[in-house]
Amino acid sequence: MSSSSLQSHRIAVIGAGSWGTALGAWLANNGHTVRIWDVDQKVIEDINHHHQNSQFFPDIELPNGLQGCNTLESAIESCSAVVVAVPSRVFDLAMNSVSDHLHLMDSGTKPIIIWGTKGFDSETGDLLSEVTTRILKDRATTATIAGPSFAYEVIRGMPTGFHLASTNAEDIESIANMFRNTTSLVYTTDDIVGVQVGGATKNVIAIAAGIADGLGFGINTRALLITRGFAEMNRLNIALGGKTETLMGLSGMGDLFLTCSGDLSRNRRLGLGLGSGKQLDSILEEIGQEVEGLQSAREIYHVGKKLEVFMPMTERVYRILYEQLPPMQAAMELLAIGPSIPDRNQ
Ligand SMILES: NC(=O)c1ccc[n+]([C@@H]2O[C@H](COP(=O)([O-])OP(=O)(O)OC[C@H]3O[C@@H](n4cnc5c(N)ncnc54)[C@H](O)[C@@H]3O)[C@@H](O)[C@H]2O)c1
Repeated sequence: MSSSSLQSHRIAVIGAGSWGTALGAWLANNGHTVRIWDVDQKVIEDINHHHQNSQFFPDIELPNGLQGCNTLESAIESCSAVVVAVPSRVFDLAMNSVSDHLHLMDSGTKPIIIWGTKGFDSETGDLLSEVTTRILKDRATTATIAGPSFAYEVIRGMPTGFHLASTNAEDIESIANMFRNTTSLVYTTDDIVGVQVGGATKNVIAIAAGIADGLGFGINTRALLITRGFAEMNRLNIALGGKTETLMGLSGMGDLFLTCSGDLSRNRRLGLGLGSGKQLDSILEEIGQEVEGLQSAREIYHVGKKLEVFMPMTERVYRILYEQLPPMQAAMELLAIGPSIPDRNQ
């Protein structure tokens, strides 16, 4: 692809939920022609007829450059890039659909496939980059974008920082340039593992932070939990081949801080509910949207176990969610573990 930072692209966004809509609006505001598609056609009608996604952003008028499509084919046709923003639970499905329609993309350039989804594959526990490579092989240039970025703030143009990760050194800057503008700082890295591990694991620690707050603990406890949570995120990161310096950046520490402290985080809100004694079903009903950390906790727990990574906080969150471990007992168990041998110095 060309490396001009001012180049305007034709981009398809798959998934018009909170993040897909924010990404679509952001890219359209950057001057790209953006077509968005979702399995839920109501949201597409909303976008086309009212220039709105009234479920998530009832007060935001979406840009004219963002157009809803009724079929995946019409969204992808002649595009040079596709951005996938579906929950990790259906990432494999969505990427397979993209793969089936790759031949419809602009034939003049190698397709660019970017994902904003965070998580691990729900069936295999693989990183989404592994899922993508398995499906697309070398037929596309791939990248992921992640960082401390609540869609609510991104769509309002509030200053936000991101990591864009790709192993394609030649195209990484031009892909990042699609997203860059005066309020969006996009830092590039080739550490695609580190960026994905940060984005997925922070959801689990955010649940833990919410639980601690819900139990009535204070800011000391939250700081303890964020720091110790980071240590176990990084142990998994290293075991999977990611770099600590990546995790120290926006997609790791940055996103961890955001989700552990911001009440816009569905994961944190789930934890708050559990800590204050509510039942899981009623919390999920109250939130009314998909809470990705619920699934991530299970996947990360299993990946950690397989790789023999010491992840006491993830294990407690998993047991609270799936084995009815009472939150206060989980807190007591974590305190009893204390500064144990594998992580004494972190
Ligand atoms: N919401 C945020 O602030 C935010 C920010 C950064 C990253 N993310 C990540 O983006 C991903 C999506 O999150 P979200 O908040 O937008 O979720 P969401 O639940 O708000 O929206 C997901 C959308 O995907 C659609 N969808 C489901 N299956 C599909 C398929 N097979 N093909 C096309 N569309 C499909 C759903 O109908 C829904 O509209 C998650 O991995 C999340 O971690 C979210």
